[in-house]
Amino acid sequence: MDYETVMKLALERGFYFPSCEVYADAQAGFWEYGPTGVGLKNKFLQLWRRELIRRDGMLEIDGSQIMSKSVFEASGHLGNFADPIIKCSKCNSTFRADKTIAEITKIEIPESADLIEFDNAISQNNIKCQKCKGDFEKTKNFNMMFKVGIGPEEEEAYLRPETCQSIFVDFPRLYKTMRGKLPLGIAQVGKSFRNEIAPRQSLLRLREFYQAEIEVFCNPTKLDVVEKFEEIQDVIIRIQTDSEPVVITCKEGLESGVIPNKFVAYYLGILTEFYEKTGIDVTKSRFRKLGEKEKAFYAEVAFDFEVETTIGWLELVACNYRSDYDLTSHATKSKEKFEIMDGDEKVLPHVFEISMGIDRSLYTILEHSLRDDKEHERIVLSLKPYLSPTHVGILSLVKKDGLKEKTDQIHLNIKRKFDAFLDHSGAIGRRYRRLDEIGAPFAVTVDHQTLEDDTITIRKRDSMEQTRINISELDSILSESIAFP
Ligand code: GLY
Repeated sequence: MDYETVMKLALERGFYFPSCEVYADAQAGFWEYGPTGVGLKNKFLQLWRRELIRRDGMLEIDGSQIMSKSVFEASGHLGNFADPIIKCSKCNSTFRADKTIAEITKIEIPESADLIEFDNAISQNNIKCQKCKGDFEKTKNFNMMFKVGIGPEEEEAYLRPETCQSIFVDFPRLYKTMRGKLPLGIAQVGKSFRNEIAPRQSLLRLREFYQAEIEVFCNPTKLDVVEKFEEIQDVIIRIQTDSEPVVITCKEGLESGVIPNKFVAYYLGILTEFYEKTGIDVTKSRFRKLGEKEKAFYAEVAFDFEVETTIGWLELVACNYRSDYDLTSHATKSKEKFEIMDGDEKVLPHVFEISMGIDRSLYTILEHSLRDDKEHERIVLSLKPYLSPTHVGILSLVKKDGLKEKTDQIHLNIKRKFDAFLDHSGAIGRRYRRLDEIGAPFAVTVDHQTLEDDTITIRKRDSMEQTRINISELDSILSESIAFP
């Protein structure tokens, strides 16, 4: 389904909507999750924890969102985390240079290119301000971090632009206190903040957004000693280096040299298996190897995991080999020790990062799961049952004759174990449609026969098949169907 249909669903069914929307001064790039959105997000994260964190025996932390200036001096964000911007000399409107040039000329200049490249493209193509046709001033860099003042003295600090800096800063303590052993993954879910010049398309470019980041610390001399590699060697992935993507197994990718080592191959494999389980169509995915000018300043090798949607390819995960860039920088700046013992060897670990954008992933799950069932004149959100915000709707056919009380009782019995939605009002067909739209895999209806023999009708979302079951069977049917794989 297309972006507009997903947006309509999100607004009308409580998935997400603009922040501060009743006020005219609400800034762009801030969105809120409603109850169905939170339900989907929580379950997505449960799956992430099962398939990546627990599978690989990683540690999870929860760090501060505001961090000191020194952190970002060391990380390089104060110096390098900038977008190229152009300002109109007539009306003062500001735009991103790379985006404006691409929109008008289709020429793609990487955001980290030298500023002179943008100025040349603007003059050669006679690009003017889209608002007033004025001339642009020279391209400048705009740092995307939000600065905050701490306490009455307003000490300089920043909202984190990526969650992972606390993982790097905390690494020596975590390795010691949690009795770490390389390779060791440390993960974190939380908000990050970037002062985007042109936030757009709801969840796709936000100023405040959710990340689920994993930093795997490893011994750089042991990148091909990965016992777990066999678990994923046959997983099929799509990798794009320069030309068209190739469809290969992780093993073939490694043997052909497209993937640099077993260590990276293993994580690309488990990441693909995770996304398969979210219901995203992974045949429409690719790991795109980034060129020198496209990579983030801290990355030695970078693959973006991208998925095709109706609005183009979306980057859902950045997989960066950050080498010892971060640990060396923090060791130098803080004068603390970041080396650890790996057996008898003293090493400064290298880091491979799997940095996931949660909001974009949720958008893509919605787009890939939403379908227009024209035959039955309904929109169906065919989410995996274990990701559905609501597992089951509990409906009374009518409220009278004791059916409301019977329905309330069934709801009361299951609501602590399952996400159940109680609904007594409206035409039954409309109530089914509403449940289809929020992805509830089941609806249960209580009618007059229920009062006689304790049976209820259970309706499946995707097939619309209805069967009569005993109330006592409901728990096991739901438990089996919504279990994580
Ligand atoms: N930590 C990588 C990123 O935020 O893009």
